[in-house]
Amino acid sequence: MKRRASSLILAGAAGLFAISVAAAQTPTVPGPPPAPFAVSPYKNLKVFPKDVTRADLLGTMKQFSQSLGVRCTFCHVGVEGRPLATFDFASDAKPNKGIARDMLRLADRLNRTDLPAIGGLLDPHVTCYTCHRGSRKPATMPPAAPTAAPPVSPTAAPKAERG
Ligand code: HEC
Ligand code: HEC
Repeated sequence: MKRRASSLILAGAAGLFAISVAAAQTPTVPGPPPAPFAVSPYKNLKVFPKDVTRADLLGTMKQFSQSLGVRCTFCHVGVEGRPLATFDFASDAKPNKGIARDMLRLADRLNRTDLPAIGGLLDPHVTCYTCHRGSRKPATMPPAAPTAAPPVSPTAAPKAERG
């Protein structure tokens, strides 16, 4: 667990990827709902475990948004700029939310099955950012080689700030 956590940049999100399918595959057993919520405040979770903590869920939602370069309203019903309390996060009205669920399952499958099947990968962890890199549409081709650009120094450090 320690090794796993230490190598994860997106610990919260990747941890959810790791447990999401396990939860989905576990048959529902009668009994008291698990901690930390006596009653989950979330009404419509189909991929994440019902007892996901608020911190894990919201942390993952921020990762989604940053990974795709979008705001909550890309997937959720709500008016940009209005308080989040006015949003209907449980609604499935926006198709992107459904796509995001399928993408979660895809990333989870890659991490659990496909990548471990490739020998030598001890701790594979694909996240949304792995493909999306801050864009709704992952690039499918490397950028065209610039024709007249000056040569890039291999020692040049990437710029830390944007501007
Ligand atoms: C790329 C799509 C996407 C973005 C962007 C996104 N979410 Fe989500 N959100 C989802 C999906 C998918 C679920 C349902 C997960 C499941 O079925 O287990 C969800 C569920 C939720 C829930 C639980 C709703 C319930 O009651 O079931 C909350 C709260 C939430 N998101 C908040 C946010 C916030 C706040 C933001 C912006 C910071 C955000 N989301 C951005 C896709 C997204
Ligand atoms: C293995 C690569 C890969 C991973 C990992 C991945 N995606 Fe995607 N995603 C894609 C591709 C490819 C598309 C299709 C883009 C297009 O239509 O050009 C896409 C499209 C989407 C779209 C639709 C965007 C649009 O504007 O139509 C959403 C929403 C999305 N992904 C959410 C997610 C979320 C959330 C995650 C993490 C749980 C994720 N993706 C992880 C490859 C990936």
